[in-house]
Amino acid sequence: MVGTSERLPELMYNLKLHNGKTLLFETSEKVFIPTGTTTLLLDSVREQIGSRGSILDIGCGIGVVGIALAAYGLATSLSASDISHEAVVLTEHNAVSNGCEVTARHSNLFEAWLDTAFDYIVDDVSGVAEGIAAVSGWFKNTSCESGYDGSLLTKNVIRQSHKHLRSGGRLFFPVISLSNETEIIAEARRCFEKVSLLKQKAWPLPDDLKPHLALLDRMRNEGVISYEEKFGTHIWTTSIYMAHN
Ligand SMILES: C[S@@+](CC[C@H](N)C(=O)[O-])C[C@H]1O[C@@H](n2cnc3c(N)ncnc32)[C@H](O)[C@@H]1O
Repeated sequence: MVGTSERLPELMYNLKLHNGKTLLFETSEKVFIPTGTTTLLLDSVREQIGSRGSILDIGCGIGVVGIALAAYGLATSLSASDISHEAVVLTEHNAVSNGCEVTARHSNLFEAWLDTAFDYIVDDVSGVAEGIAAVSGWFKNTSCESGYDGSLLTKNVIRQSHKHLRSGGRLFFPVISLSNETEIIAEARRCFEKVSLLKQKAWPLPDDLKPHLALLDRMRNEGVISYEEKFGTHIWTTSIYMAHN
C-alpha cells in the first residue's frame, strides 16, 4: 500500500504519511510533478531502512522522497540534488516549510558529491526511454537525457554509487518498464553482490502516450521496453530495487 497523495490546485503537492502526518510541497510547472513511482519508491525505502543513517536523494525533484524519509525520522542527515536549478530551490524551500534540514545541491548525477559518502542513496534520476519521455506528459520541463533505451542515467548512478556508499550502505532505485530493465539490472548485478526487487506496481498507459502506440510497439519488438496488453489496456510497471554488498 503506497502513501496516498494528491495535487492541490495551486501547484502544491500533498503527501499523507503512514503516521497520519501530512506534508505539503510547493511545486511548479518547471519541475517534475511527483507520480506513483515517487510514493512507491518512498514506501519501499521506508520499509527497508532498519536504522537511521545519512541519506542522499539524487534526482530529488521537489524533494518529496528525502524530506518524507526525514519526516519519518530515518535520516541522521539529508542531502539532495538534481540537475534542475528550480528543483533544488524548491527542495530547499520544501525542507524548511516541512521543518527539516537539507543540504541541497545543483548537480549532474554525483558531480557535486565528489568526496561524500552516505548510508543510503535513493536514486530517482530520469529513467524513461528518451523517445517516449519526449512525447509523454511526465518530462515536459524535466531533463531526461537517458539515452535511446532509457537506461543511461540509472546505469551511471549504479556504477558510481559504490564510491558514495559507506560500508554496509544501500542503493535504492526504481526501474520503469518503459526503459531497458534487463540492461539496468545486469549493470546492478555487475556492481553489487546483492540486488533485490522490493516492490512492483502496474499502471495503465497514460492518455498522452496512447497516440504513440506505434513507437511503443516498435521499441517493445526491439526488446528495449516492456508492457502488456490486458483486456484492451496497455500496462507498464515500476519496480523498486535495492542493491548492496
Ligand atoms: C522522474 S523525476 C523524479 C523527481 C522526484 N524524485 C520525484 O519523484 O518527484 C527525475 C529527476 O531527475 C532529474 N535529473 C535528470 N537528469 C539528471 C542528472 N543527469 N543528474 C541529476 N538529476 C537529473 C530531473 O531533473 C528530475 O527532477
